[in-house]
Amino acid sequence: MQIHHDIPGLRAALRGDAPVAFVPTMGNLHDGHLALVTQAREAVGPEGRIVASVFVNRLQFAPHEDFDRYPRTLQRDAELLAGVGCDFVFAPDEKTMYPEPQGYKVHPPTELADILEGHFRPGFFVGVCTVVHKLFNIVQPDVAVFGKKDYQQLMVLRRMVDQMALPIRILAGETRRSETGLALSSRNGYLSDDEKQRALLLSQTLRGLLKAWHDGERDVARLEAQALQTMRDAGWQPDYMTLRRQHDLGAPQEGQPLVALGAAKLGQTRLIDNLEG
Ligand code: PAJ
Repeated sequence: MQIHHDIPGLRAALRGDAPVAFVPTMGNLHDGHLALVTQAREAVGPEGRIVASVFVNRLQFAPHEDFDRYPRTLQRDAELLAGVGCDFVFAPDEKTMYPEPQGYKVHPPTELADILEGHFRPGFFVGVCTVVHKLFNIVQPDVAVFGKKDYQQLMVLRRMVDQMALPIRILAGETRRSETGLALSSRNGYLSDDEKQRALLLSQTLRGLLKAWHDGERDVARLEAQALQTMRDAGWQPDYMTLRRQHDLGAPQEGQPLVALGAAKLGQTRLIDNLEG
């Protein structure tokens, strides 16, 4: 496996006809990330080239968020990536990705990007779209794989690729969870053992939302208010706990596939999760 820190070196190494599959990450990798690499391999076969990027993207963090303390573990990440058959790691530093302040940015449409995560993290999806668009230009992949763990991010990026006519096939990876059901996340490393146990409440409450709907409850506002209260009663600070339709994250409707999405802070750690159903 090759590790590249600069753009010309990576581009030269990727010259050729074999298809390229790309897995963008911010590093501190876990089995969820590695499963995306395996999925990328399945998509392009043994002749294809798999590229993973590791870059903590300042543009998608608000000033009060955890950019500075986000774990940077490149050496271990590279070992894990090599272990699952990744061919190239692109690990640029900030000067390489942003040699000057990034004035050109990709602004996703408000109806998709200013709700849920975008509402509570203003500017987040501008930062994500801008860096992913730039990474796509650098890597020029045929396929890119993103996790459903970041459900809205996946949707926003799919739309970017469609609307900008980027010649890239986007694949979605299922959310990997610990044995207890906690969605794997680099931010789980911030949690104490006790908090890791308590963190299960997030997915449990989301499951409860889906179940209530399927049991026939249609007062979604009441269900969501109850879910928020459940989280608060257990000492969390929830941002949202909501039922949406999968298609466009609009209000749930009869007969359409649904997704329950939630974001909440446990102590200093903000976690997100979602469940389809
Ligand atoms: P990061 O949080 O490192 O996640 C990288 C990719 O791994 C994303 O597609 C994310 O959805 C996926 N992922 C995270 N946890 C997962 C899990 N438990 N199961 C399956 N997939 C999981 O998302 C980002 O980085 C950044 O926003 C990025 C797209 C790299 C742009 O900076």
